[in-house]
Amino acid sequence: MHLNKTEIAALKKVPRLNIINSITGIKPGNVVGTKSKDGISNLAIISSVVHLSSNPALIGFIMRPSREYRRDTYNNILESACYTINHVNSSFIERAHYTSAKFDKDISEFDACGLTEEYIEDFFAPFVKESTIKMALTLREQIPIQSSNTTLIVGEIEQIFIPDEIIDSNGYLDLGKGNSVGISGLNSYYELSYKASFPYARVHQIPKDLKKNS
Ligand SMILES: Cc1cc2nc3c(=O)[nH]c(=O)nc-3n(C[C@H](O)[C@H](O)[C@H](O)COP(=O)(O)O)c2cc1C
Repeated sequence: MHLNKTEIAALKKVPRLNIINSITGIKPGNVVGTKSKDGISNLAIISSVVHLSSNPALIGFIMRPSREYRRDTYNNILESACYTINHVNSSFIERAHYTSAKFDKDISEFDACGLTEEYIEDFFAPFVKESTIKMALTLREQIPIQSSNTTLIVGEIEQIFIPDEIIDSNGYLDLGKGNSVGISGLNSYYELSYKASFPYARVHQIPKDLKKNS
């Protein structure tokens, strides 16, 4: 298949949405935990989490347009300035997926989708007990992206939780061992398996056999 810009625009809405949502490749599977000032917890699956910087430790994610619909995650983050990001594990993919349904404001997706709220130390936002890798963040910035009518939410990591058995002495995480999952498009989930690691790439250390015609 080859499509140019005009042909992409002429596609039916659903195929266009699926193709453009999948073409970037595998995205990380996470659920974002928040709580309103009235104490109603919220959980939403998010596939746009991205690392921004390690020092300070900043993580971003894209919040879709909030004009047409009520967005509990967005409202709670603005209200409380904190949230959690929890890896989706293969043991609860389906439950995580259904957190994307538009539940009423007073319904917690934790209850509706069968996941367990976990409060650690005195952090206001709930973690997902079933999740193996998770972090607590405070809101640093929200950056409007005019061309897509979305918002980049920038958070600073306050706490991270990683099982000791999936992290090595250099800090590399084996996400396959942690049972984290990847997402393609809006409804397809993949398990991850470790393939290889390579040293920091320096020009004078490129393996000789990589060269064309070597
Ligand atoms: C696989 C998948 C990935 C999603 N990724 C995002 C995302 O990156 N950003 C976003 O704003 N919504 C995303 N959504 C939609 C939210 O999960 C959905 O709007 C959620 O219910 C938020 O509602 P709430 O904040 O009102 O609870 C995704 C949905 C699915 C199924």
